[in-house]
Order: sequence, then structure tokens, then C-alpha cells
Amino acid sequence: MDPVRWNDSYNTGIERIDQQHRRLIDMLNVHLAEGLLDHPLQRATTMLADFQNYAEQHFCLEEELAEHAGIHRSTNWLMHAGEHDYYRKRIHELGQLATSKPDESAHQLLSFLRYWWTAHIGGADQRLAENLLRKTPL
Ligand SMILES: [Fe+2]
Ligand SMILES: [Fe+2]
Repeated sequence: MDPVRWNDSYNTGIERIDQQHRRLIDMLNVHLAEGLLDHPLQRATTMLADFQNYAEQHFCLEEELAEHAGIHRSTNWLMHAGEHDYYRKRIHELGQLATSKPDESAHQLLSFLRYWWTAHIGGADQRLAENLLRKTPL
């Protein structure tokens, strides 16, 4: 799978969010570059740990910012939080698959992570940033 190239449509204009997004994409690119040929279980386990822990930190930051801006009860935010919940659920499922089918789990993880992060950063996170900047201009 090709690495993800950062492009301007991923920038939100909110530095703390952009920094974390860049780090997530960098982490993902390391896994994409190293491939899955060797040690799929180890690879799946590392990916799961990285993308659970750091994603939680990141979701917390977005939640905090939404709350601070007073938009955490808006439909827009609730839909956004729903995407985060879906991510958690999918990561949990792929984690369960890792013990019985490490190869399949590692492959599915890589494509899910690549798809989900680029779609979410380019979609829901852009809308969140627009709403945040409207409420609390930098
Ligand atoms: Fe985000
Ligand atoms: Fe988000």
C-alpha cells in the first residue's frame, strides 16, 4: 500500500490538532513502509497499541476543544463523536481477530487505518475545525 502523502486538504488550521494528525499519519506511514511480511502478530499488536493509545489522546483533545467552544451538544459534534466510536469498535474487533488470524488482522488493520484516518481528517475534522474557529477564533 502506498504511503499517505500529507496535502493541504488535511490541514485544519488548528495547530494542536494538525500536529497530532501529522504524527498519526507518520506512524501509519512507518507501518505501510515496513510491510507485513514478517511477524504479522507482532505487527498487528504494535499497530493496535499505537493506534489505540494515541488515538484516544487525540479524540480527548478534540472533545475538550468542542466542549470549550460550547459545541459539544450540537448534532455536528454528536455525529463526529459517533465516527470516533465506530473507530474504537472496529479497532477492538480487529484486535480480537489478531490472536486467531494475525495475518488477516494485520492486513485489515492497515487498510482500515489508512482509509479511516484520511477520510476522517479530510472530512469530519475539517468541519469540526470550521465550527471551532467560528466560536473561538485563533
Ligand atoms: Fe482528528
Ligand atoms: Fe475527529
